[in-house]
Amino acid sequence: MNLVDEINQRKSDGLYRIRKVVDFSKGPFVTIEREEYINFSSNDYLGLADNTILKECMIDAIEEYGIGGKSSQLVTGYSKPHRTLEERLAKFLKRDAALVFSSGYLANLAIASVLINKNTIVLQDKLNHASLIDAAQLSVGSLVRYSHGDTNHLETLLEKYSKYNLVVMTDGVFSMDGDFAPIVEIAKLCKKYDAVLIVDDAHGIGVLGETGAGLLELKKLNQAEVPLLIGTFGKSFGGCGAFISGSSLYIEAFVQKARTYIYTTAMPPSLAVTMTKAIELVINGIEQRENLYSLIKFYKESMRHANLRAHESISHIQPYIVGNAKKAVELSEALYRNKLLVIAIRPPTIPKNTSRLRVSLTAIHDKKQVTCLVQNIKNKSDNE
Ligand SMILES: Cc1ncc(COP(=O)(O)O)c(C=O)c1O
Repeated sequence: MNLVDEINQRKSDGLYRIRKVVDFSKGPFVTIEREEYINFSSNDYLGLADNTILKECMIDAIEEYGIGGKSSQLVTGYSKPHRTLEERLAKFLKRDAALVFSSGYLANLAIASVLINKNTIVLQDKLNHASLIDAAQLSVGSLVRYSHGDTNHLETLLEKYSKYNLVVMTDGVFSMDGDFAPIVEIAKLCKKYDAVLIVDDAHGIGVLGETGAGLLELKKLNQAEVPLLIGTFGKSFGGCGAFISGSSLYIEAFVQKARTYIYTTAMPPSLAVTMTKAIELVINGIEQRENLYSLIKFYKESMRHANLRAHESISHIQPYIVGNAKKAVELSEALYRNKLLVIAIRPPTIPKNTSRLRVSLTAIHDKKQVTCLVQNIKNKSDNE
């Protein structure tokens, strides 16, 4: 199929992607073509992207370090702010060391050049984020996927491939479903079968755990149980960029071998300074986390009262599954007409027939906004 046919096919299947141009974004609101919408599709879970302290911190840091990364980290792009950020991250996540990447996608792809050889089987949850899947698919090893959250299936595969080098990769909080990986059981299985366990907790860090260190803090899993923990600054930290944390040996191996670390421009030092400050705000973000947890509870109760199918997710990511892609787009458009921005998520981002609204709740939403969202979903579903 040529590109024109392929794009037309996407249009007729309801899978065509359109980018909305945001004029302006502030707190839980976005302005698009001069109209203001409540944004339920943001990953700024703690509202730090607009935080005054962080904005001032970044402006000062730009004055000192300029705007760019200037070169890759192994050339002259590794600055004092990067080193400070690594040290602060390691302390926050209770790991020996950490390494800063320019994005979460690149951090995950780094696994391909560091930990996967021809004799490696990479076992992954079927619903892992694309960047984990791509790490295995672009590597010289082989990808085998286990059913979502199914530790029996995982064990069967670990047993079957026990003669290979084994790597297990999973999202912590699943990006499109909001549920948690059964991480305690997975860690035990990895120990039993001598597999390296890598957890990407992009969506859990900042939101879960007493100090916001994520699912592993909540489940009390240390570095010996989960040797590599990945996260991104693009969600709860309100910035962009990412990190891998683990033993000093692993981090050294990434510095030496990770192609997506070595061959790309460093995160700007001004952003590294700002993300170091953001860690402090995340740790102290107890009130924001409390707000968010009570909003999640309120959303779920409101959905139940409205007789709407609430997903089992107990996190800030609440999928409302519609099934058909065109129907999901219709619902999203109906909400949009009423000034609510909730993007429809469709294949290939998620499996076929599970198209959905991915409702993303944040600490800066309020109950009135959530009520408005639920009422609008209800009105649309009553009119079907
Ligand atoms: C689980 C997970 N990992 C990695 C990423 C990619 O992170 P980044 O946006 O920093 O590239 C995402 C992005 O949504 C994600 O959901």
